[in-house]
Amino acid sequence: NSMLSWQRTAFHFQPEKNWMNDPNGPLFYKGWYHFFYQWNPNGAVWGDIVWGHAVSKDLIHWLHLPLAMVADQWYDINGVWTGSATILPDGKIVMLYTGSTNESVQVQNLAYPADHNDPLLTKWVKYSGNPILVPPPGIGYKDFRDPTTAWYTSQGKWRITIGSKLNKTGISLVYDTKDFKTYEQLNGVLHAVPGTGMWECVDFYPVSKTSDKGLDTSVNGPDVKHVVKASLDDDRNDYYSLGSYEEKTGKWVPDNQKIDVGIGIRYDYGIFYASKTFYDQNKERRVLWGWIGESDSENADMQKGWASVQGIPRTVLFDKKTGSNLIQWPVEEVENLRLSITDFDKVEVKAGSVLPLQVVTATQLDIVAEFELDKKVLESVAESNEVFSCNTSAGGSHRGALGPFGLLVLADETLSEQTPVYFYVAKGPGGNFDTFFCADQTRSSVANDVKKKVTGSYVPVLKDEKLSVRILVDHSIVESFAQGGRTTITTRVYPTKAIYGAARLFLFNNATEISVTASLKVWQMNSAFIRPYHPDETSN
Ligand code: FRU
Repeated sequence: NSMLSWQRTAFHFQPEKNWMNDPNGPLFYKGWYHFFYQWNPNGAVWGDIVWGHAVSKDLIHWLHLPLAMVADQWYDINGVWTGSATILPDGKIVMLYTGSTNESVQVQNLAYPADHNDPLLTKWVKYSGNPILVPPPGIGYKDFRDPTTAWYTSQGKWRITIGSKLNKTGISLVYDTKDFKTYEQLNGVLHAVPGTGMWECVDFYPVSKTSDKGLDTSVNGPDVKHVVKASLDDDRNDYYSLGSYEEKTGKWVPDNQKIDVGIGIRYDYGIFYASKTFYDQNKERRVLWGWIGESDSENADMQKGWASVQGIPRTVLFDKKTGSNLIQWPVEEVENLRLSITDFDKVEVKAGSVLPLQVVTATQLDIVAEFELDKKVLESVAESNEVFSCNTSAGGSHRGALGPFGLLVLADETLSEQTPVYFYVAKGPGGNFDTFFCADQTRSSVANDVKKKVTGSYVPVLKDEKLSVRILVDHSIVESFAQGGRTTITTRVYPTKAIYGAARLFLFNNATEISVTASLKVWQMNSAFIRPYHPDETSN
């Protein structure tokens, strides 16, 4: 439907049509990044799930390939569900995925490329002995899904983990295997957190405490921390936690029980789910893919004929400065889409003001902004007992002494539509400052069939750091990264007026006391080529 076509994104991964959900089995092989995804061949809502497949040289431009796997066996006839790839030392690839059987039982299956000499990995073979795992005793037959990438143990075995639940406790089961065909279940679980419910799409990987390189999934040692991520089915958000992993027992413990999996920090405070990382041996980095669903209605999705995008892949690193969170940042390749730049140096944004920024067009942008706060006001302003939270605040129109201030993206000239992305600083008892990072959908669209929430969270700011934000704007998605990627918010917005040439960009400061000085770089972003594969295009 052309009426909704402005919502289509220009540089985010999307299939040509229909419903998409989780990223599956990402990997780099013989010069190509491979991306598989949950896809419905029959419509713009979830169902009839098969594996879509696309390849890229740079994680930004994509060629759509034929479906990798369809629902054609009794053990996956109700859906070829989420799975992960493992690259073996000899370079061969194994894929483990969940099948929903003819009786809707969740089982794990093995698949591998038909031809390892084909860099495009076009054809996939399902192992004749599938399924290789069925729900173990005590586990519900619909609570056993999404196997991880395998890692190698010092006992010479491969180990995987699979999310589940026991009553309301989210858990992750652990299995060892030598050949990916037969498995033994370890005693106990990798980890369990009461009250968190079913754990979908568990991810488990090492991060370095000392280096800025990513680590292959099997790496372990004194310089390493391990991340556990679970996608909470009940809550529809991706929670991670940093901790240590003991190989002998196959158990992991969080560094801080207060920020355990599912009750502490999230990858993203907007819409971001069922994510998965992979180790990119090409650029020695760990890359995170996350599924960005819609916040409009199912009806609107059916009208426009598609639903969901994938976030720009993010590199993931341990934050050495805070020691308590990860750093997520858009892969550097997205910067190749940058076209003309507009520079704004030290713009003063007085308390209670809105300033238009003259940019060419405002629907495809990469924005990097820094804010400096008036130190004297910071010192002199009264301490407050306010307990701030983005979610319960009035968004961009909330007024405090020291915020909100930031940007209005995808706004129209009259500001009847606008999406504020901003900081809010609170001076608490004792004179300590807490900084929050929020995005406000409440005025993002005059349409009434879309979700309108204020989302966001606390962001760690160290002494003498400026406040900084990076925002990627792409028609109906706004991805925001505060303080170098310590806290991120992805928002889907559906403007009806702030579209194409009518979209504008503003600075705003709705604080009552503080004026801020903003310095920004704003790039127009090119569109990416994301289109069907033609054999002659790949002959290099
Ligand atoms: C997560 C999920 C997975 C499942 C897949 C089915 O979004 O529910 O647990 O494997 O999607 O499409």
